Amino acid sequence: MREIAPSLLSADFYNIEKQMNELRQTKVKYLHLDIMDGNYVPNISFGPGIIKNLRKKTDFIFDVHLMVNKPENYIDSFVDAGADIISFHPETTIHPNRVVSQIKSKGIKAGIVLNTHTDVDILKYLIQDIDLILIMSVVPGFGGQAFIPQIMDKVKVVREMIDQSGRDIILEIDGGIKTHNVKEVADAGVELIVAGSAIFNEKGIINNTEEFYKIIGE
Ligand code: DX5
Ligand code: ZN
Repeated sequence: MREIAPSLLSADFYNIEKQMNELRQTKVKYLHLDIMDGNYVPNISFGPGIIKNLRKKTDFIFDVHLMVNKPENYIDSFVDAGADIISFHPETTIHPNRVVSQIKSKGIKAGIVLNTHTDVDILKYLIQDIDLILIMSVVPGFGGQAFIPQIMDKVKVVREMIDQSGRDIILEIDGGIKTHNVKEVADAGVELIVAGSAIFNEKGIINNTEEFYKIIGE
């Protein structure tokens, strides 16, 4: 699988209905939802209320990326809002294993996010339980930042760890993905590719999405 997950953070919230309808006309299956608490990251985005509204009108796979401290306090409300996948940063909680179980007990997929500074070692005792690993290729907090090229080394190591685990774990990347670097990440074995500012811009959602899918050969 190789899929593009547009990040709602870069959408024009005034025209959200129109933009969702455009996305529906593309091959897109996943919608990436960035939740920022103004605490773990220096930005505030949106919460479960917005997701609940979108859930009523769209059937994308909702890929929720929590950038919040104490994610354990928010799992229930995001599950109720319609999340299909919830990923969190392990440094935001004292007991990451417990949060993974909490998410999985709701019957949805659980993901771990590796911040740009986070070593892959953190995966050693989590990999047996998780469904997704999200590698940050920018420092979390904002859309439209530049891709950090050194992250490709981490992508290769994590790809190998997943293959060796023998488990069915989705590898995802997030931040600074454009048409000029998407092939490199797809070829390195990333299956779910987040793109925000490269999808929601004046060139048009449909055009941008088609260009991405053409490049990754799906
Ligand atoms: C950054 C977010 C990303 C962001 C990606 O903290 O996690 O999902 O929206 O935006 P682009 O693709 O513009 O870097
Ligand atoms: Zn994200």
